[in-house]
Amino acid sequence: MLDTPSQRIEDVRRQSFSVTYEYPVVFTRDAFALGNRSLVDVLSQREPHKRHRCLVFVDQGVLSSLPDLASQIENYAAAHAGSMELVNPPVPVEGGEACKNDPNTIARLLELLSQHAIDRHSFTLAIGGGAVLDAVGHASAIFHRGVRHIRFPSTVLAQDDSGVGVKNAVNHFGLKNLIGTFAPPWAIINDSSFIDALPPREKRAGMAEAVKVALIRDGKFFNWLEAHADELARFSRPHLDHLIKGSAELHMRQIRLGGDPFEMGSARPLDFGHWSAHKLEQLTRNEVNHGEAVAIGVALDTRYSFLSGHLAAGEDERVAALLERLGFALWHDKLRQCDSQGRPLVLKGLADFQEHLGGELAVTLLAGIGRGVEVHEMDEKIVGQSIDWLERRK
Ligand SMILES: NC(=O)c1ccc[n+]([C@@H]2O[C@H](COP(=O)([O-])OP(=O)(O)OC[C@H]3O[C@@H](n4cnc5c(N)ncnc54)[C@H](O)[C@@H]3O)[C@@H](O)[C@H]2O)c1
Ligand SMILES: [Zn+2]
Repeated sequence: MLDTPSQRIEDVRRQSFSVTYEYPVVFTRDAFALGNRSLVDVLSQREPHKRHRCLVFVDQGVLSSLPDLASQIENYAAAHAGSMELVNPPVPVEGGEACKNDPNTIARLLELLSQHAIDRHSFTLAIGGGAVLDAVGHASAIFHRGVRHIRFPSTVLAQDDSGVGVKNAVNHFGLKNLIGTFAPPWAIINDSSFIDALPPREKRAGMAEAVKVALIRDGKFFNWLEAHADELARFSRPHLDHLIKGSAELHMRQIRLGGDPFEMGSARPLDFGHWSAHKLEQLTRNEVNHGEAVAIGVALDTRYSFLSGHLAAGEDERVAALLERLGFALWHDKLRQCDSQGRPLVLKGLADFQEHLGGELAVTLLAGIGRGVEVHEMDEKIVGQSIDWLERRK
């Protein structure tokens, strides 16, 4: 008899290894000008003498603003034919949240990868806002269990936050980012000429993420944003470049040194202000875009930080004033919408946030400008008072 109580029936061998990820984040301009070597250099970083097969996807919004882009990419590939081969002309992908909501997007992308025999040594390139990068990044991460992928973020938000990260996702069952992967890319190329093509509203939106990350990690960067709010509100080129680089570097540092790049724990400091932001995006059916919702969410949690005794008096006003000077509205009527019990609907964002994180609730608040602090519960009454404060600023 093997199965007696005194005999162990399990035989456990411990397995352990670690993998180092390393990828370049290149800041450049006019990446497809023939003399710009950013792309060929990253393609060739491991195999310098090979002709690399590439399938390029481009956000339809970028193509509408830059109608010559597809032919520039083809000319670039022809001029660097020793290093790269386009397996197809650049493929347009519908831009914005629509591509993440459409259940056919991933299937269509996978079909194209299959048709063009993309293998684990071929490359997919995605040029676009955070939504297109998420969709193409996810398809690239699951095809053959992951093919080489290069991102060209084309919005301020994608260049200063989402595009330099390690995750991808699409929406499903009406839930944001439900289906996704952690998959560090091969390289990221932040080309500032894409930012010039952006409408003002999108240029502004990404600034909220810079304010967010400055608030939790870098008081000096916050002071710089404050000192240059007027230039930023006018989208001054060098100031916008500085904002994007500073924010991208802080996001990268959090992933590199924060101890949890693949988000196994419950803490999510880069999601400061996001529990209410995600809910607001949903309640307004994306009428408020991600960056605009983050500006409101950051202001709300900053006021909450003061009211709950974490943040010194006056600092909440400083944060709200900066966001307003950058051009953000810190109020939306949906913040007032209540359920049948008179409870603000936005509060449901806390439960959704916890479910998305897994484990216990972990919300980042501010202990000072540049200093995040984690809490594990939120007092609904204080959230209500913070909402009242935002309404008074209308
Ligand atoms: N993976 C992550 O870690 C992560 C992190 C944060 C946000 N995100 C996701 O990013 C998305 C938001 O990204 P976003 O703010 O970049 O917006 P977006 O991708 O929704 O793009 C906004 C609009 O701008 C257009 N556009 C993009 N680049 C353009 C350009 N250069 N010129 C003209 N039009 C252009 C798009 O077609 C779209 O209509 C959300 O889906 C969010 O969930 C992902
Ligand atoms: Zn965000």
